[in-house]
This record gives sequence, C-alpha cells and structure tokens, in this order.
Amino acid sequence: MEDTRVMIGEVSQHTGKEVQLFGWVHSRRDHGKLVFIDLRDRSGVVQVVLGSDIKGAGDLRLEYVIKLTGKVAKRPEKLVNDKIPTGAYELQATGLEILNTSRELSMPLDTDGREIGEDTRMKYRYLDLRRERLARNLINRHKVVKYIRDFLTERDFVEVETPILTKSTPEGARDYLVPSRLQKGSFYALPQSPQQYKQLLMVAGLEKYFQVARCFRDEDTRGDRQPEFTQLDLEMSFVDREEVMALNEKLLTLIVTKLYPEKKIQETPFPRIAYKDAMEKYETDRPDLRKDKDDPNLLAFCWVVDFPFFELTEEGGWTFTHNPFSAPKPEFESDLLEKRNVKDIIASQYDVVLNGWEIGGGSIRNHKPEALRAVFDVLGYKDTSQFNHMFAALESGAPPHGGIAWGLDRLIMILQNEPNIREVIAFPKTGDGRDLMMDSPSEVDPDQLKELGLEIKRK
Ligand code: AMO
Repeated sequence: MEDTRVMIGEVSQHTGKEVQLFGWVHSRRDHGKLVFIDLRDRSGVVQVVLGSDIKGAGDLRLEYVIKLTGKVAKRPEKLVNDKIPTGAYELQATGLEILNTSRELSMPLDTDGREIGEDTRMKYRYLDLRRERLARNLINRHKVVKYIRDFLTERDFVEVETPILTKSTPEGARDYLVPSRLQKGSFYALPQSPQQYKQLLMVAGLEKYFQVARCFRDEDTRGDRQPEFTQLDLEMSFVDREEVMALNEKLLTLIVTKLYPEKKIQETPFPRIAYKDAMEKYETDRPDLRKDKDDPNLLAFCWVVDFPFFELTEEGGWTFTHNPFSAPKPEFESDLLEKRNVKDIIASQYDVVLNGWEIGGGSIRNHKPEALRAVFDVLGYKDTSQFNHMFAALESGAPPHGGIAWGLDRLIMILQNEPNIREVIAFPKTGDGRDLMMDSPSEVDPDQLKELGLEIKRK
C-alpha cells in the first residue's frame, strides 16, 4: 500500500487527498454529532473533524496519541484561522486509532509557557518541550549547529572529541570532580573547556580543529550560565588574530543572514573596541551597542580587544584576566619574557559581544615554552608540574596557533529572542544546579561510596 503519511505542516500540499496523520490531541471540542480536535505533531497543528460514527472519537482527551486517516479539505473562507499556517485546511477523518492515552497534564501546553512556574516546567520537561516555542528553539539550535559543522568542514576543519574525564584546568571556575574507583583518593575533573586538548591537537599537527563541546563549571548559575553548557570550540595553526577573527565574523554573519533573515546586523565589519575604551565609555567590557533596544531583530556585534594580560589580586599578586595559555600581543612579547611592565602587557585576547552578552572569546597562544613559563612566573606558580605535559608538548615542535570558543547557548538564546539560556537547552538545571526531572544530584548507595573509598561527613 502506498504510504500516505504526511507531516501536519505539509497538509496544504495534499488538498483533496487521502492522508495519514500521527500526533497528539492538542485541543478538543465535542459537539455531540461532531468532535473537533486540533492535532499536533512536531511540524504544526491542524484541525480535524470527526463524525460521531468514528469509533473512539468520543473518548479522545488532551494529549492522547492517535493515528488518523482522512481527507485534507479546504475550510470555508469565513472559517479560515489565519493565526496558524495550516488554518485554511482541515482533515475530515475517516479512521481513528488511539495509540496511547495520557493522564491529565500538570500544566497547559497550548501557551508559550512563560506564565508557568519554572519548577513545574523543569520537573515535566518532556511535556514542556512539546510546547511549540521550545520545540522551535531545539530545532533552530540544530540548524545553527549543522550550519557551523558544514561551514567548518568545507574549510578543512576536523571535529575531534576530547575527554570528559580529565584533569583540573585553570580556567578560573571551580571544577566538578569525579572520584576514581581504581585509583582511590584520586579524582578526575570534568573539563571547564577543551583548552589544553585543542592546543595539544595543534601540536599533533591537526592544523584546524573544532568541537561542539560540553563544558562544566561549578559556579553560581544565572540566566546566561549553566553548570554544563556548550561551546563551539575551535583552534587553528599558523594564524594571527586577524585571521581567527575574520573567520568567526564570517561564520556569525552567515548564520544570521542564512538562518535568521528577519534579523539585521547593525554594523559590519563588527566594530572593535579596546577594553580600556569600553570601560571608560560603557563601564563594561561587554557593551550593548544597539541603537534601538526595542527592536528584537537588531543584532549589534562587536569585538572587544586589547585586554590587560594580568590583573592584581587582593593579596597583591598577579592573576590572569582570561586564559593563562594566551600570548601577549606581539609588541609585548619581550616585556613578558623579561617580566617587565607586567601591568601594561596587553593580551592577544579577543571577545565577541552581542547585544550586551559575551558570546565568545579566544586568543593567540604561547607556542614557545619560555613564554608560558614566564606567564606562570608572573602568576607566582611555584609548582608547575601539573603543566609538564604542556611544556613537553611546546618543546616538541608546537606550531604557532590560536582559537576561540563561543558560548553556543548564549548565541542561540539571543537569536531565538529568549531571555535566558535555559529556554534553548533541552534539559537545563535550576539556579541551584538541580535537575528536577531526574531529581539530581541525589544520594548514592553506601556500597558505591565504599567502592570509591569515600565517606560522607554529616554535620
Ligand atoms: P571562556 O571561558 O571565555 O573561554 O568561554 C567561552 C564562552 O563560553 C560561554 N560561557 C558560558 N556559557 C554558559 N554557561 C557558562 N557557565 C559559561 N561560561 C562561559 C561564554 C564565553 O564567552 N578556552 C577558552 C576559549 C579560548 O580561549 O579558545 C574559554 O573557555 O559565552
């Protein structure tokens, strides 16, 4: 038999034809002789008319999963619902099969969900994601990621997965630790970013790397921060910062023009602002340059550059402002090597800012061991043995290299006009780092702790 199955979003192309639809009962009006339902699948919603002669029509309830056969018809002119794309059509059902029932839902699904308490939305996230807005966020996120993968693949980048069970890295946040069973008392750390691995891939001669990489940072969660989040991470060999910035600017511009044509980039090339000027003029290093902040379709990208490499700690020592593996701008190289004028050394760091959010940052790295050594000297690290692998690699023919990482969740949040990144992450965590659906973190079996050689101290 011919497969007549169609997606709801495509019914208009099948007017007058017999089709099969699969989906969920989105709404229902029982008029006795006729039952009207809105049927929903991933692609949209369409009205279905069921006569009372159709077996099971009277049993339908919200969110029942059903299979329908019937004929696609045009609705009379005056009944056209122009609020939905399929509003000029309906399915006149000839057959119904109930594939599954549903208990009464814990929240309505026919709204955008913003009026519902987040705890409920997170506890029943699999229902929340049935909401059109949330489904669209995930689908468009996929399109952005696919566009990125295609763009970089065409330019000879290789996507490489790097370890999740790794070692503490100095990215500035607190690590998530994972106890080792085989080496009792030792811990893996989850990566705050793949920074060291991607540099080591440059030493390995890969030349152009990227990864859609999950990163983990144990810091206080906010609207633009999650304990685990996703970076578009990339690194290139034999490049200067202009080349890295140009490639990223091109990719960001294409994502907007190809996938979000309704949006307008305020200024290209993206304006560049020195950190010092940004602080003086806007009192922030991520200025919102939009000329019209009421326009949800206006995108004001800018680069913030020329960050100081080091800043003073409260104890009077030095700490790095971004990334200890960064190189200074070429004109400050000798100052770094001689540890001279430390406070004036400018890093090769570049941050990309969009509408007041930091959506990415990167730098050219120190590819010579003596430069990295000098950074650690300034920072006052006495024991650098945890970086022995980096020194050994840099001493083994490391090419000049640099890269960047985007906060992918943040970029998609802005493109989807969402107020926080939880709306564009399938299964996000609450402000206090919990997954309400899985009820995680949770206590574990005492035997598991024993196996790991761990004991919980209760106050
Ligand atoms: P950085 O720490 O600046 O750089 O991170 C890059 C981008 O990741 C995003 N980001 C976050 N997004 C959501 N939740 C978080 N908790 C979070 N933390 C950071 C931001 C940020 O701009 N290894 C370097 C990159 C490099 O130098 O190549 C790094 O991780 O948008």
